[in-house]
Amino acid sequence: MQRRGAKGEKMVLVMVGLPARGKSFLARKVCRYLRWLGHEARVFNVGSYRRERVGQNKPASFFDPENPAGAQARQEVATAALDDALRWLRGDGEVAIYDATNSTRERRALIAESCRREGVPLLFIESICDDPAIIENNIRETKLLSPDYFGMPTDDALADFRQRIAHYQRAYQPIDDDAQSFVKVIDAGRQVVVNRADGALNARVVALLLNLRLTRRTLWLTRHGESLYNVRGRIGGDPDLSPRGEEFARALAAHFQPSPRGLTIWTSTLQRSIQTAGHLALPTTPWRQLDEIDAGTCDGLTYDEMRRQMPELFAARQRDKLRFRYPQGESYLDVIHRLDPLILELERQTAPTLIIGHQAVLRALYAYLVGEPVEHCPHQAIPLHTVIEITPSAYGCDERRTMLAPRVDERRSIAPS
Ligand code: F6P
Repeated sequence: MQRRGAKGEKMVLVMVGLPARGKSFLARKVCRYLRWLGHEARVFNVGSYRRERVGQNKPASFFDPENPAGAQARQEVATAALDDALRWLRGDGEVAIYDATNSTRERRALIAESCRREGVPLLFIESICDDPAIIENNIRETKLLSPDYFGMPTDDALADFRQRIAHYQRAYQPIDDDAQSFVKVIDAGRQVVVNRADGALNARVVALLLNLRLTRRTLWLTRHGESLYNVRGRIGGDPDLSPRGEEFARALAAHFQPSPRGLTIWTSTLQRSIQTAGHLALPTTPWRQLDEIDAGTCDGLTYDEMRRQMPELFAARQRDKLRFRYPQGESYLDVIHRLDPLILELERQTAPTLIIGHQAVLRALYAYLVGEPVEHCPHQAIPLHTVIEITPSAYGCDERRTMLAPRVDERRSIAPS
Protein backbone atom coordinates (compact mmCIF):
# COMPACT_ATOMS: atom_id res chain seq x y z
CA MET A 1 0.00 0.00 0.00
CA GLN A 2 1.24 3.52 -0.71
CA ARG A 3 2.14 5.39 2.42
CA ARG A 4 2.62 9.04 3.20
CA GLY A 5 5.39 8.43 5.79
CA ALA A 6 8.46 6.40 4.85
CA LYS A 7 7.36 2.85 4.09
CA GLY A 8 7.94 0.54 7.02
CA GLU A 9 8.81 3.43 9.36
CA LYS A 10 8.19 2.21 12.94
CA MET A 11 7.54 3.98 16.19
CA VAL A 12 5.87 3.89 19.58
CA LEU A 13 3.48 6.60 20.71
CA VAL A 14 3.33 6.66 24.49
CA MET A 15 0.30 8.26 26.12
CA VAL A 16 0.88 10.13 29.39
CA GLY A 17 -1.57 11.72 31.81
CA LEU A 18 -3.94 11.35 34.73
CA PRO A 19 -7.11 9.28 34.35
CA ALA A 20 -10.05 10.99 32.57
CA ARG A 21 -7.83 13.33 30.53
CA GLY A 22 -8.97 11.92 27.20
CA LYS A 23 -5.86 9.78 26.56
CA SER A 24 -7.77 6.84 25.13
CA PHE A 25 -9.83 9.17 22.96
CA LEU A 26 -6.63 10.69 21.53
CA ALA A 27 -5.02 7.25 21.15
CA ARG A 28 -7.98 5.91 19.17
CA LYS A 29 -8.20 9.03 17.00
CA VAL A 30 -4.50 8.91 16.13
CA CYS A 31 -4.75 5.18 15.44
CA ARG A 32 -7.74 5.57 13.12
CA TYR A 33 -6.08 8.44 11.25
CA LEU A 34 -2.80 6.59 10.70
CA ARG A 35 -4.60 3.42 9.60
CA TRP A 36 -6.63 5.46 7.15
CA LEU A 37 -3.38 6.86 5.72
CA GLY A 38 -2.22 3.28 5.20
CA HIS A 39 -0.05 2.64 8.27
CA GLU A 40 -0.29 -0.49 10.42
CA ALA A 41 -1.25 1.15 13.71
CA ARG A 42 -2.66 -0.45 16.86
CA VAL A 43 -3.57 0.68 20.38
CA PHE A 44 -2.26 -1.34 23.34
CA ASN A 45 -4.49 -0.30 26.21
CA VAL A 46 -3.11 -1.25 29.62
CA GLY A 47 -6.56 -0.87 31.24
CA SER A 48 -7.84 -3.71 29.07
CA TYR A 49 -4.85 -5.88 30.02
CA ARG A 50 -5.55 -5.18 33.69
CA ARG A 51 -9.23 -6.07 33.36
CA GLU A 52 -8.35 -9.28 31.53
CA ARG A 53 -5.51 -10.43 33.77
CA VAL A 54 -6.27 -8.99 37.20
CA GLY A 55 -10.03 -8.55 36.93
CA GLN A 56 -12.41 -5.63 36.68
CA ASN A 57 -14.22 -3.91 39.56
CA LYS A 58 -10.94 -3.06 41.30
CA PRO A 59 -11.58 -0.48 44.03
CA ALA A 60 -9.69 2.83 44.09
CA SER A 61 -7.33 1.44 46.77
CA PHE A 62 -5.87 -0.89 44.12
CA PHE A 63 -4.45 2.23 42.42
CA ASP A 64 -2.95 3.67 45.60
CA PRO A 65 0.81 4.03 44.97
CA GLU A 66 1.32 2.92 48.59
CA ASN A 67 -0.46 -0.38 47.97
CA PRO A 68 2.46 -2.73 47.09
CA ALA A 69 0.30 -5.59 45.78
CA GLY A 70 -1.67 -3.22 43.54
CA ALA A 71 1.49 -1.46 42.35
CA GLN A 72 3.11 -4.77 41.42
CA ALA A 73 0.05 -6.06 39.60
CA ARG A 74 -0.17 -2.80 37.67
CA GLN A 75 3.50 -2.91 36.82
CA GLU A 76 3.10 -6.47 35.50
CA VAL A 77 0.19 -5.70 33.19
CA ALA A 78 1.92 -2.53 31.97
CA THR A 79 5.03 -4.55 31.09
CA ALA A 80 2.98 -7.25 29.39
CA ALA A 81 1.26 -4.66 27.18
CA LEU A 82 4.56 -2.98 26.28
CA ASP A 83 6.19 -6.34 25.49
CA ASP A 84 3.28 -7.22 23.21
CA ALA A 85 3.55 -3.82 21.50
CA LEU A 86 7.28 -4.23 20.85
CA ARG A 87 6.81 -7.84 19.66
CA TRP A 88 4.13 -6.66 17.24
CA LEU A 89 6.51 -4.01 15.90
CA ARG A 90 9.07 -6.72 15.10
CA GLY A 91 6.53 -8.09 12.62
CA ASP A 92 4.19 -6.10 10.37
CA GLY A 93 3.30 -3.50 13.00
CA GLU A 94 4.37 0.08 12.33
CA VAL A 95 2.91 2.36 14.98
CA ALA A 96 2.19 0.96 18.44
CA ILE A 97 0.16 3.31 20.61
CA TYR A 98 0.81 2.49 24.24
CA ASP A 99 -2.19 3.73 26.17
CA ALA A 100 -1.66 3.99 29.93
CA THR A 101 -1.13 6.77 32.48
CA ASN A 102 2.70 6.42 32.33
CA SER A 103 2.61 9.21 34.85
CA THR A 104 5.98 8.91 36.60
CA ARG A 105 9.47 9.68 35.32
CA GLU A 106 10.59 6.22 36.41
CA ARG A 107 7.91 4.46 34.34
CA ARG A 108 8.69 6.59 31.29
CA ALA A 109 12.43 5.93 31.65
CA LEU A 110 11.72 2.18 31.60
CA ILE A 111 9.61 2.53 28.48
CA ALA A 112 12.25 4.70 26.79
CA GLU A 113 14.92 2.13 27.62
CA SER A 114 12.83 -0.76 26.20
CA CYS A 115 12.26 1.20 22.97
CA ARG A 116 15.93 2.13 22.72
CA ARG A 117 16.95 -1.54 23.05
CA GLU A 118 14.45 -2.40 20.34
CA GLY A 119 15.72 0.43 18.13
CA VAL A 120 12.32 2.12 17.70
CA PRO A 121 11.85 5.86 18.25
CA LEU A 122 9.13 7.03 20.58
CA LEU A 123 6.98 10.09 20.98
CA PHE A 124 5.23 10.86 24.26
CA ILE A 125 1.74 12.34 23.99
CA GLU A 126 0.79 13.94 27.27
CA SER A 127 -2.77 15.08 27.87
CA ILE A 128 -2.93 17.74 30.56
CA CYS A 129 -6.25 19.11 31.69
CA ASP A 130 -7.22 21.09 34.75
CA ASP A 131 -10.61 22.19 33.47
CA PRO A 132 -13.10 20.60 35.90
CA ALA A 133 -15.91 20.71 33.32
CA ILE A 134 -13.92 18.70 30.77
CA ILE A 135 -12.80 16.17 33.39
CA GLU A 136 -16.32 15.73 34.74
CA ASN A 137 -17.61 15.25 31.21
CA ASN A 138 -14.93 12.64 30.47
CA ILE A 139 -15.78 10.73 33.63
CA ARG A 140 -19.48 10.70 32.94
CA GLU A 141 -19.23 9.91 29.23
CA THR A 142 -16.57 7.22 29.31
CA LYS A 143 -15.48 6.01 32.74
CA LEU A 144 -18.94 5.35 34.12
CA LEU A 145 -19.63 3.15 31.09
CA SER A 146 -16.41 1.18 31.67
CA PRO A 147 -16.68 -2.47 32.75
CA ASP A 148 -14.83 -1.35 35.91
CA TYR A 149 -18.11 0.11 37.16
CA PHE A 150 -20.57 -2.32 35.72
CA GLY A 151 -23.66 -2.57 37.92
CA MET A 152 -22.47 0.06 40.44
CA PRO A 153 -24.74 3.00 41.36
CA THR A 154 -23.60 6.18 39.58
CA ASP A 155 -22.73 8.13 42.74
CA ASP A 156 -20.59 5.29 44.15
CA ALA A 157 -18.80 4.89 40.81
CA LEU A 158 -18.16 8.63 40.59
CA ALA A 159 -16.76 8.77 44.14
CA ASP A 160 -14.53 5.75 43.51
CA PHE A 161 -13.20 7.15 40.26
CA ARG A 162 -12.42 10.52 41.82
CA GLN A 163 -10.54 8.65 44.53
CA ARG A 164 -8.60 6.76 41.86
CA ILE A 165 -7.62 10.05 40.19
CA ALA A 166 -6.46 11.40 43.57
CA HIS A 167 -4.11 8.40 44.00
CA TYR A 168 -2.57 9.03 40.59
CA GLN A 169 -2.36 12.74 41.29
CA ARG A 170 -0.07 12.15 44.28
CA ALA A 171 2.48 10.32 42.13
CA TYR A 172 2.08 12.26 38.87
CA GLN A 173 5.15 13.93 37.36
CA PRO A 174 4.44 15.81 34.12
CA ILE A 175 7.02 15.52 31.33
CA ASP A 176 9.74 18.10 31.93
CA ASP A 177 12.70 16.73 30.01
CA ASP A 178 13.35 18.67 26.80
CA ALA A 179 15.74 15.95 25.62
CA GLN A 180 12.66 13.76 24.96
CA SER A 181 10.30 13.85 22.00
CA PHE A 182 6.87 14.87 23.16
CA VAL A 183 3.61 16.61 22.39
CA LYS A 184 1.63 18.13 25.25
CA VAL A 185 -2.06 18.58 24.54
CA ILE A 186 -3.34 21.08 27.10
CA ASP A 187 -7.02 21.55 28.00
CA ALA A 188 -8.32 19.45 25.10
CA GLY A 189 -6.31 21.32 22.45
CA ARG A 190 -6.47 24.90 23.76
CA GLN A 191 -2.69 24.77 23.69
CA VAL A 192 -0.38 22.23 22.05
CA VAL A 193 3.35 22.11 22.83
CA VAL A 194 5.60 20.17 20.48
CA ASN A 195 9.19 19.21 21.30
CA ARG A 196 11.64 17.30 19.07
CA ALA A 197 8.97 15.66 16.93
CA ASP A 198 10.87 15.16 13.66
CA GLY A 199 10.12 12.68 10.92
CA ALA A 200 7.25 12.01 8.53
CA LEU A 201 5.11 9.95 10.90
CA ASN A 202 5.51 12.42 13.75
CA ALA A 203 4.49 15.20 11.38
CA ARG A 204 1.15 13.46 10.65
CA VAL A 205 0.51 12.76 14.34
CA VAL A 206 1.30 16.34 15.33
CA ALA A 207 -0.87 17.73 12.52
CA LEU A 208 -3.84 15.74 13.80
CA LEU A 209 -3.27 16.66 17.44
CA LEU A 210 -3.02 20.35 16.54
CA ASN A 211 -6.44 20.21 14.93
CA LEU A 212 -8.46 17.88 17.16
CA ARG A 213 -11.37 19.38 19.06
CA LEU A 214 -13.36 17.48 21.63
CA THR A 215 -16.69 19.08 20.75
CA ARG A 216 -19.26 16.51 19.75
CA ARG A 217 -21.16 17.49 16.67
CA THR A 218 -23.13 15.75 13.99
CA LEU A 219 -21.95 15.33 10.42
CA TRP A 220 -24.10 14.54 7.44
CA LEU A 221 -22.78 13.05 4.22
CA THR A 222 -24.75 12.91 1.01
CA ARG A 223 -23.96 12.52 -2.63
CA HIS A 224 -25.23 15.14 -5.06
CA GLY A 225 -28.65 14.61 -6.57
CA GLU A 226 -28.90 12.39 -9.64
CA SER A 227 -26.95 13.97 -12.51
CA LEU A 228 -27.47 13.77 -16.27
CA TYR A 229 -24.41 11.45 -16.37
CA ASN A 230 -25.93 9.17 -13.71
CA VAL A 231 -29.01 8.86 -15.93
CA ARG A 232 -26.86 7.65 -18.83
CA GLY A 233 -24.52 5.59 -16.64
CA ARG A 234 -21.49 7.77 -17.45
CA ILE A 235 -18.74 8.44 -14.96
CA GLY A 236 -16.97 11.67 -14.08
CA GLY A 237 -17.57 14.89 -16.04
CA ASP A 238 -19.21 18.02 -14.75
CA PRO A 239 -22.88 17.47 -15.65
CA ASP A 240 -25.93 19.29 -14.28
CA LEU A 241 -28.56 17.68 -12.11
CA SER A 242 -31.33 15.67 -13.80
CA PRO A 243 -34.94 16.67 -12.99
CA ARG A 244 -34.93 13.93 -10.30
CA GLY A 245 -31.66 15.32 -8.95
CA GLU A 246 -33.29 18.76 -8.74
CA GLU A 247 -36.18 17.23 -6.83
CA PHE A 248 -33.69 15.67 -4.40
CA ALA A 249 -32.03 19.07 -3.91
CA ARG A 250 -35.41 20.44 -2.82
CA ALA A 251 -36.07 17.42 -0.57
CA LEU A 252 -32.63 17.90 1.01
CA ALA A 253 -33.41 21.54 1.82
CA ALA A 254 -36.71 20.47 3.39
CA HIS A 255 -34.93 17.74 5.37
CA PHE A 256 -32.71 20.41 6.94
CA GLN A 257 -35.67 22.61 7.93
CA PRO A 258 -35.30 24.01 10.50
CA SER A 259 -31.57 23.92 9.92
CA PRO A 260 -29.36 22.93 12.87
CA ARG A 261 -27.75 25.95 14.52
CA GLY A 262 -24.52 26.97 12.82
CA LEU A 263 -24.91 24.39 10.05
CA THR A 264 -21.89 24.53 7.76
CA ILE A 265 -22.19 23.23 4.21
CA TRP A 266 -19.30 21.93 2.14
CA THR A 267 -19.60 20.98 -1.51
CA SER A 268 -17.15 19.98 -4.21
CA THR A 269 -16.36 22.44 -7.01
CA LEU A 270 -18.48 20.41 -9.46
CA GLN A 271 -21.86 21.64 -10.71
CA ARG A 272 -23.91 18.66 -9.50
CA SER A 273 -22.68 19.16 -5.94
CA ILE A 274 -23.10 22.97 -5.94
CA GLN A 275 -26.58 22.69 -7.48
CA THR A 276 -27.62 20.17 -4.82
CA ALA A 277 -26.85 22.74 -2.12
CA GLY A 278 -28.79 25.41 -4.04
CA HIS A 279 -32.10 25.23 -2.16
CA LEU A 280 -30.56 25.17 1.31
CA ALA A 281 -30.17 28.96 1.15
CA LEU A 282 -27.12 28.90 3.43
CA PRO A 283 -23.52 29.85 2.67
CA THR A 284 -21.56 26.96 1.22
CA THR A 285 -17.83 26.33 0.89
CA PRO A 286 -16.68 24.56 -2.28
CA TRP A 287 -13.65 22.29 -1.80
CA ARG A 288 -11.59 20.94 -4.68
CA GLN A 289 -10.57 18.07 -2.39
CA LEU A 290 -14.20 16.94 -2.46
CA ASP A 291 -14.28 16.60 -6.27
CA GLU A 292 -15.04 13.10 -7.53
CA ILE A 293 -12.24 10.61 -8.25
CA ASP A 294 -10.53 11.68 -11.48
CA ALA A 295 -11.25 8.95 -14.02
CA GLY A 296 -8.53 10.28 -16.35
CA THR A 297 -8.82 8.86 -19.88
CA CYS A 298 -12.01 7.02 -18.85
CA ASP A 299 -13.88 10.20 -17.91
CA GLY A 300 -17.27 10.28 -19.62
CA LEU A 301 -17.41 6.56 -20.42
CA THR A 302 -19.98 4.07 -19.16
CA TYR A 303 -18.70 0.95 -17.35
CA ASP A 304 -19.85 -1.10 -20.37
CA GLU A 305 -17.81 1.04 -22.78
CA MET A 306 -14.80 0.73 -20.48
CA ARG A 307 -15.16 -3.04 -20.37
CA ARG A 308 -15.40 -3.29 -24.19
CA GLN A 309 -12.80 -0.66 -25.15
CA MET A 310 -10.20 -1.36 -22.42
CA PRO A 311 -10.76 -4.91 -21.16
CA GLU A 312 -7.37 -5.18 -19.47
CA LEU A 313 -7.73 -1.92 -17.65
CA PHE A 314 -11.26 -2.87 -16.61
CA ALA A 315 -10.02 -6.22 -15.25
CA ALA A 316 -7.13 -4.53 -13.40
CA ARG A 317 -9.62 -2.26 -11.65
CA GLN A 318 -11.80 -5.24 -10.71
CA ARG A 319 -8.75 -6.96 -9.21
CA ASP A 320 -7.60 -4.09 -7.02
CA LYS A 321 -9.98 -1.19 -6.95
CA LEU A 322 -8.22 0.52 -4.02
CA ARG A 323 -4.85 0.83 -5.75
CA PHE A 324 -5.95 0.98 -9.40
CA ARG A 325 -5.11 4.39 -10.85
CA TYR A 326 -7.00 5.56 -13.95
CA PRO A 327 -4.53 6.50 -16.73
CA GLN A 328 -3.93 10.25 -16.21
CA GLY A 329 -6.32 10.08 -13.27
CA GLU A 330 -6.50 8.90 -9.68
CA SER A 331 -6.79 5.80 -7.51
CA TYR A 332 -8.82 5.51 -4.30
CA LEU A 333 -5.53 5.78 -2.40
CA ASP A 334 -4.83 9.06 -4.21
CA VAL A 335 -8.27 10.29 -3.16
CA ILE A 336 -7.56 9.38 0.48
CA HIS A 337 -4.32 11.33 0.45
CA ARG A 338 -5.83 14.40 -1.18
CA LEU A 339 -8.55 14.34 1.50
CA ASP A 340 -5.98 14.48 4.30
CA PRO A 341 -5.97 18.33 4.65
CA LEU A 342 -9.77 18.32 4.53
CA ILE A 343 -9.91 15.78 7.38
CA LEU A 344 -7.74 18.07 9.49
CA GLU A 345 -10.04 20.99 8.71
CA LEU A 346 -13.05 18.85 9.58
CA GLU A 347 -11.49 17.88 12.92
CA ARG A 348 -10.86 21.57 13.67
CA GLN A 349 -14.48 22.52 13.02
CA THR A 350 -16.92 22.56 15.88
CA ALA A 351 -20.05 23.34 13.84
CA PRO A 352 -22.47 20.65 12.57
CA THR A 353 -21.46 20.06 8.96
CA LEU A 354 -23.23 18.80 5.86
CA ILE A 355 -20.93 17.50 3.14
CA ILE A 356 -22.39 17.18 -0.35
CA GLY A 357 -19.92 15.05 -2.25
CA HIS A 358 -19.58 12.18 -4.67
CA GLN A 359 -19.51 8.41 -4.51
CA ALA A 360 -15.75 7.68 -4.34
CA VAL A 361 -14.80 10.70 -2.30
CA LEU A 362 -17.51 10.00 0.29
CA ARG A 363 -16.45 6.35 0.51
CA ALA A 364 -12.98 7.57 1.47
CA LEU A 365 -14.32 10.09 3.99
CA TYR A 366 -16.75 7.59 5.46
CA ALA A 367 -13.92 5.08 6.01
CA TYR A 368 -12.10 7.64 8.13
CA LEU A 369 -15.17 8.72 10.07
CA VAL A 370 -16.33 5.24 11.04
CA GLY A 371 -12.88 3.64 11.20
CA GLU A 372 -13.58 1.14 8.42
CA PRO A 373 -10.51 -0.62 6.90
CA VAL A 374 -9.47 1.28 3.77
CA GLU A 375 -9.44 -2.00 1.81
CA HIS A 376 -13.26 -2.06 2.12
CA CYS A 377 -13.81 1.55 1.18
CA PRO A 378 -14.06 1.24 -2.65
CA HIS A 379 -16.97 -1.19 -2.15
CA GLN A 380 -18.88 0.71 0.52
CA ALA A 381 -22.51 1.45 -0.42
CA ILE A 382 -23.10 5.20 -0.61
CA PRO A 383 -26.37 5.36 -2.57
CA LEU A 384 -27.77 8.45 -4.26
CA HIS A 385 -30.49 10.43 -2.48
CA THR A 386 -29.51 9.10 0.95
CA VAL A 387 -28.40 11.26 3.86
CA ILE A 388 -25.92 9.55 6.19
CA GLU A 389 -25.93 11.08 9.66
CA ILE A 390 -22.86 10.39 11.76
CA THR A 391 -22.69 11.33 15.44
CA PRO A 392 -19.57 10.62 17.47
CA SER A 393 -20.14 8.54 20.60
CA ALA A 394 -17.78 7.67 23.48
CA TYR A 395 -16.10 4.76 21.72
CA GLY A 396 -16.95 5.29 18.05
CA CYS A 397 -19.90 6.79 16.26
CA ASP A 398 -23.59 6.23 15.64
CA GLU A 399 -24.91 6.22 12.12
CA ARG A 400 -28.36 6.76 10.64
CA ARG A 401 -29.28 6.63 6.96
CA THR A 402 -32.34 8.42 5.59
CA MET A 403 -33.50 7.91 2.02
CA LEU A 404 -35.14 10.97 0.53
CA ALA A 405 -37.46 11.15 -2.45
CA PRO A 406 -37.29 10.56 -5.32
CA ARG A 407 -35.91 7.05 -5.50
CA VAL A 408 -33.46 6.39 -8.32
CA ASP A 409 -32.35 3.24 -10.05
CA GLU A 410 -28.60 3.45 -10.07
CA ARG A 411 -27.79 0.10 -11.61
CA ARG A 412 -26.18 1.59 -14.74
CA SER A 413 -23.95 4.03 -12.90
CA ILE A 414 -22.66 1.64 -10.25
CA ALA A 415 -19.40 -0.12 -11.02
CA PRO A 416 -19.75 -3.90 -11.13
CA SER A 417 -17.65 -5.48 -8.39
O1 F6P B 1 -21.02 6.87 -11.18
C1 F6P B 1 -20.91 8.00 -10.38
C2 F6P B 1 -19.48 8.19 -9.88
O2 F6P B 1 -19.49 9.24 -8.97
C3 F6P B 1 -18.43 8.41 -10.98
O3 F6P B 1 -18.28 9.74 -11.37
C4 F6P B 1 -17.20 7.82 -10.35
O4 F6P B 1 -16.19 7.54 -11.30
C5 F6P B 1 -17.77 6.61 -9.69
O5 F6P B 1 -19.03 6.99 -9.20
C6 F6P B 1 -16.94 6.07 -8.54
O6 F6P B 1 -17.44 4.82 -8.17
P1 F6P B 1 -16.62 3.47 -8.56
O7 F6P B 1 -15.28 3.64 -7.94
O8 F6P B 1 -17.42 2.37 -7.93
O9 F6P B 1 -16.51 3.37 -10.04
